[in-house]
Amino acid sequence: MAGDLDRDTMERAYARWAPIYDAVCGPVFEKGRRAATAAAKQAGRRILEVGVGTGLSFQDYDARHEVYGIDLSEPMIARARERMASGAFPHVKEVNVMDAHHLAYPDAMFDAVVAQFVITLVERPERVLDECARVLKPGGEIILVNHLYSERGLAAAVERWFAKHAHTFGLRPEFPFQRLQAWAEAHGGVEVAERRRVALLGVYTLVRFRKLAEGDRAATRFAAAG
Ligand SMILES: C[S@@+](CC[C@H](N)C(=O)[O-])C[C@H]1O[C@@H](n2cnc3c(N)ncnc32)[C@H](O)[C@@H]1O
Repeated sequence: MAGDLDRDTMERAYARWAPIYDAVCGPVFEKGRRAATAAAKQAGRRILEVGVGTGLSFQDYDARHEVYGIDLSEPMIARARERMASGAFPHVKEVNVMDAHHLAYPDAMFDAVVAQFVITLVERPERVLDECARVLKPGGEIILVNHLYSERGLAAAVERWFAKHAHTFGLRPEFPFQRLQAWAEAHGGVEVAERRRVALLGVYTLVRFRKLAEGDRAATRFAAAG
């Protein structure tokens, strides 16, 4: 499944999206984005937005937060920098062109790592999640919002058809929640704290992972062994 959306495909797709992204995707993603930023604000002060795009979420934060953003796409980051230059978002500390597979931040720097409409697009989602967990403080949260794959029924059939045509647009709709859960179990240092539907008709799913403190990890290992 990975490898079908490589870095070149993604960069080409988002160079095309950048000029029209806010007008086309802004309203479509708004409810999901707001649900994710609301959860991030509960998690703490210093927040990393992975795949920050054009910075549509900047308006959701305020002076109580320090927001950092990264994105693979130069044209999307250029738009985010234009937003910062307006002076309206002093809580946004920096945005950088960076690949989420290799975050250039130290361990345990952030209270929350948010990725809205990103994890289903990256080449190696589990690698990106490992990086998100690494830069989180113990007790911090990874917050994802996405459309996740329907496993049954008509929706699943429609989505399978759509998936065949979606990759050239930088989309990967065929992504089940089970893949996220399997990552958390294999990682061992995080737990799924919440999974819930958001937006009208529940088209998006918000997933929160909490990074376990060392004591909690030991307790989990002990319980598993017993
Ligand atoms: C659908 S947009 C979402 C943007 C923003 N989070 C929002 O909600 O408006 C997906 C973003 O993920 C970025 N992206 C894709 N792969 C990435 C990677 N490996 N590292 C960092 N950003 C990536 C794309 O460039 C794009 O800006």
